[in-house]
Amino acid sequence: MISIKKLAESPGLTSVPPTYTFTPNPNDHPVSDDPKDSIPVIDFALFTSGTLDQRSKLVHDLGKACQDWGFFMVINHGVPESQMKAMIKACGEFFNLTEEEKQEFAGKHVLDPIRCGTSFNASADKVLFWRDFLKVFVHPKFHSPTTPSGFREILLEYSKRTRKLTLDLLEGISVSLGLEDGYMEKAMNLESGLQILAANLYPPCPEPEVAMGMPSHSDHGLLTLLIHNGISGLQVQHKGKWINVNSIPNAFVVNIGDHLEIVSNGRYKSVLHRATVNEKATRISIATVYGPSLDTVVSPAPELVYLETNPPAFKGMKYREYLEMQQSNKLDGKSCLHHLKV
Ligand code: OGA
Ligand code: NI
Repeated sequence: MISIKKLAESPGLTSVPPTYTFTPNPNDHPVSDDPKDSIPVIDFALFTSGTLDQRSKLVHDLGKACQDWGFFMVINHGVPESQMKAMIKACGEFFNLTEEEKQEFAGKHVLDPIRCGTSFNASADKVLFWRDFLKVFVHPKFHSPTTPSGFREILLEYSKRTRKLTLDLLEGISVSLGLEDGYMEKAMNLESGLQILAANLYPPCPEPEVAMGMPSHSDHGLLTLLIHNGISGLQVQHKGKWINVNSIPNAFVVNIGDHLEIVSNGRYKSVLHRATVNEKATRISIATVYGPSLDTVVSPAPELVYLETNPPAFKGMKYREYLEMQQSNKLDGKSCLHHLKV
């Protein structure tokens, strides 16, 4: 399968080939660029250094962002800007390897620890997406492609830093749900939790209105942290509208995944989002998805289930099985989570 990068670089490409062409849905929700439709911003500086009062305000704001939006930006997060930039640059260099060099990391099975490719699931997608990807399992066991040189070191540092930030956010989120601060870590076995780095490349597209970078979907893990190279393209669904996310430079865009929706028994919902493409610039985004350990059977936290008024909304399932289901089908909104609805 030819990469979208190679296709986009074909000399004289002026239109999107039919296999990549979407028919825009006339019933699709309108897109809003209204500044008041902007996702919340969480200043995380006080998480470690704040007073008790400041910390509890932060936890309150975090809970509100999770409940109202499920999508928010985090600033003053402690991850050095230089590491974020280095990771984006290194991923750009990976995508610049030759087709033959990348082939070595193609991977066959959805649970292969290193896998690169194009679209989402090229064998199941009816229409292909304008996107190449690299997915690497970086925890509990660290993996990395061996090229380009320096990639491994940058990936290792970046993975550690983002894992720490995710754990801190999950601590705050646990408290905001009325659980102990270490609840997620213990119940989800996060010491051996699965962390995946997923880098996306969206090359310029001659007809961006008929192609899609990534279709509407929710993420499978507990939380996703996303950065990008300054080119916008991410859209989030909120109250029936698509909203362009114009993120603050060096902020992380954080979103709730399906497994946090399951654990919280539906109180915090995973949110639909998608990636559009543009005519002019190459966009790179990097998601780090942190989830339970692969052998954890995830079901709603008993503390959040009241049989009379708030019965369990989801059946339990092993994270490994959920991941296999999500990654081997076509990406289709929240269809995987719906399978688990009671
Ligand atoms: C993802 C994702 C959005 C983007 O990788 O799961 O939703 O902006 N990416 O690239
Ligand atoms: Ni996503």
